[in-house]
Amino acid sequence: MTQFDLELKQITKIYPGGTLAVEAFDLQVEKGEFLSFVGPSGCGKTTTLRMIAGLEDITSGELYIRGVNNTHIKAEKRPTATIFQNYAIYPHMTVRQNIEFGLKIRNLSASEIRQKTGNMIDLLDLGSVADAREHSLSGGQKQRVALARGLITEPEILLLDEPLGALDANLRRAIQDELKLLQRQLNITFVFVTHAQSEALGMGDRIVVMNAGRVEQIGKSEDIYFNPQTPFVSRFIGKNLLFEGKISGANGGIASIETPHGVLKAGMAGAGKISKGQQGLLSVPSEYIQFGKSKASGVNAITGHVKQANFVLNTVIIYMTLANGDVVKIDTHVDKVKGQDLNPGTVLNCYWSDKQGRIMLNETNNSGGA
Ligand SMILES: Nc1ncnc2c1ncn2[C@@H]1O[C@H](COP(=O)(O)OP(=O)(O)OP(=O)(O)O)[C@@H](O)[C@H]1O
Ligand SMILES: [Mg+2]
Repeated sequence: MTQFDLELKQITKIYPGGTLAVEAFDLQVEKGEFLSFVGPSGCGKTTTLRMIAGLEDITSGELYIRGVNNTHIKAEKRPTATIFQNYAIYPHMTVRQNIEFGLKIRNLSASEIRQKTGNMIDLLDLGSVADAREHSLSGGQKQRVALARGLITEPEILLLDEPLGALDANLRRAIQDELKLLQRQLNITFVFVTHAQSEALGMGDRIVVMNAGRVEQIGKSEDIYFNPQTPFVSRFIGKNLLFEGKISGANGGIASIETPHGVLKAGMAGAGKISKGQQGLLSVPSEYIQFGKSKASGVNAITGHVKQANFVLNTVIIYMTLANGDVVKIDTHVDKVKGQDLNPGTVLNCYWSDKQGRIMLNETNNSGGA
């Protein structure tokens, strides 16, 4: 039997006031995995992380770390360390004192503490500020001090709750890369919470998409991006074209959906629980969209007018008005639109293969309690 580094079995959290914050969360994480938790505000990311850390009681379910039941183990006895968004650096201590603090309360010898602290200062390139205090550190330095403090106790699992939230875009990008490198180097399991889709998809070996206390989908970033299993995931990614309609066929893994823009086809998502007549949603990643008219068979085609096109570096976001007035958003690489007139009002023909995109049941099927 495989032993997971971290395993959540039906973990549920109901706060004393009655809020159901996390419901029946199942998760298995392998040693050295970089796992991202992503989802909108209030979906239960922090609560889940705090339950793993032992900072929050688990209402029901079981938590295993390296095969050992940790459900009722106190936080300080768990092989985890947590880094919070605000870093929680002690302002009256120097960088070095902050980093060695976690070792001082562990009864190590003075020489061991000095050596481990020195290694950590080198690893995170904090030598030039080792004697500085928090107020004189930059955002990126504070971030690295917080990381050093988390890592010095040699946790088996490092839990990070939106650790980059306070950084500007460039620094954030740089530290994302550093973090990823460091994680590989140390081979420690990381659970990284963010509410930014691109950060979650870019950082995680696997991504857990959460919504309203529940797991919507767990997968590699390409699974989440190219193979969303639920309407929530399709919408949350923010780069998919979405078409609602009635399922008109479901056969051999391929479904068709009647939309105001004609019948469109794609592979089925959601474990094939789709049948004719139900309300469906087609989700197509923007980058599959081709411009012009295709003579090939097996393609979906739509026509509209350019409403607006915004260029941002090497990407372009095109808002296209369809015949019935619906507006779709296509977020794609500038190379894809070479030679295409994108002035407002221009007719725009688009097509994509029916192997690309996914059709799934829409939420509207559930609203009547059927
Ligand atoms: N100490 C608490 N007592 C009662 N309810 C709480 C407590 N902490 C969180 N909640 C509730 O539990 C739910 C999940 O909160 P949580 O902080 O886990 O969300 P989150 O995904 O981390 O959100 P954010 O992205 O805003 O940080 C929310 O409805 C929140 O209001
Ligand atoms: Mg949170």
